[in-house]
Amino acid sequence: MDAARQTELLALAGKYLAGGGTGLFLLPPELNLVVARGEGSRVWDVSGREYIDYHLSSGPVLLGHAHPAVTRAVEAQLPLGTTYFFLNEPEIRLAQRIVEAVPCADVVHYTGSGTEATFYALRVARAWSGRNKVLKFEGAWHGMHDYNLWGTVPSKPSAYPHSTPDSVGVPAVTGDTVLVTPFNETEAAVAMIEKHAHELAAVVVEPLQRVLQPEPGFLEAIREVTRKHRIVLIFDEIVTGFRIAWGGAQEKYGVVPDIACYGKAVSGGFPLAVIAGNGDVMSVLDARNRPKSEVVWATNTLNGNPVCAAAGVAALDVLSQPGIYEHLRHIGSRLREGIVASGTKHGFAVQAPGEDAVFGIRFTDRKPLRTWMDLTTADKDLGWRWAIELMKRGLLVNPNEKFYISIQHTDADVDQTLGIVDEAFAALRKG
Ligand SMILES: Cc1ncc(COP(=O)(O)O)c(C=O)c1O
Repeated sequence: MDAARQTELLALAGKYLAGGGTGLFLLPPELNLVVARGEGSRVWDVSGREYIDYHLSSGPVLLGHAHPAVTRAVEAQLPLGTTYFFLNEPEIRLAQRIVEAVPCADVVHYTGSGTEATFYALRVARAWSGRNKVLKFEGAWHGMHDYNLWGTVPSKPSAYPHSTPDSVGVPAVTGDTVLVTPFNETEAAVAMIEKHAHELAAVVVEPLQRVLQPEPGFLEAIREVTRKHRIVLIFDEIVTGFRIAWGGAQEKYGVVPDIACYGKAVSGGFPLAVIAGNGDVMSVLDARNRPKSEVVWATNTLNGNPVCAAAGVAALDVLSQPGIYEHLRHIGSRLREGIVASGTKHGFAVQAPGEDAVFGIRFTDRKPLRTWMDLTTADKDLGWRWAIELMKRGLLVNPNEKFYISIQHTDADVDQTLGIVDEAFAALRKG
């Protein structure tokens, strides 16, 4: 218990970290915290406050904090060295594990973050197809590089296929190569792909776009038209991979892309990401079979890091055990139903779109929620204030974003959470 120490650390963060934190995620000063430790479904801040964690570091902590299997694997690797650049056994074992699990994968390529994975995946697609442009869907989040930050969070419909950059500092020229169209609008998407097929290297899609499920037939239609025109279909499975099913969205929704990107859960909370794909498209990364001038450059110092890969192998071993995905579905569905029931009881129009292992809570009466524009009807101010009430009462959440479930969340956690949720809705109703 050290409230003074937390206050001191927050002051130092404010002084020495750009923006006082690690990015765009900012909490009001009275709720700001410095995490001291995590265990299972819980974290404790430096002042000694305990939280049930539904943020899970934005997803990687699918096994819960400090899972003993991951800790053991990392502890076994550490005395052997932390990075070599040369091949190491954990990275080879993890690659094998991923290829065996992922329907589209013959081989994998390692990167350091999800952003790098989607960035290089687009380069792979350009090299393979000999074309330049890429198509993404409005509201899709593929990371922070310049080709992704178009049409990610617009407040009004874009002038499709054009869109606006999300961040200052993104060069306008990158936007000339990025086409944007609404998710789940199958006819419009197919028509745009057909029209631009001659210049399209890739279509990149989050199969579960943030919290929007794909409508039946949408992913299938995108698959068909991309195959027809030799356009690389990229699934961004950085959220869905090993989470909504062992085989991710490809297994859950029954559509197989050419390549897919993995991050977050794939390495048990360590910084590693993966491009997994079919041997034909991925051959552009293969310096054994082509001159260096024709190989895609995607080599980073820490790619295939043995500590991260050892954590990944351990994490996937745990996730492959029977009952894991049933548990995630059970906990997630209880929460989704309970939160909606509580909100409705207190007179709020509230919905819980997504999948059980990862879902959102949105304050809107728009039904069904199909597109990014549908999601923009949600009252974000209400969502923010509700999240603050939850945090005050001991839940760690990402306001207006996602609830992530870990395999260590229990029915008792759900009971306690739903009690807090009910109090938070009541406090919101009172004003
Ligand atoms: C679907 C998706 N793709 C890519 C990324 C980027 O991954 P990273 O934050 O590791 O760069 C994210 C991050 O949240 C994501 O949700």
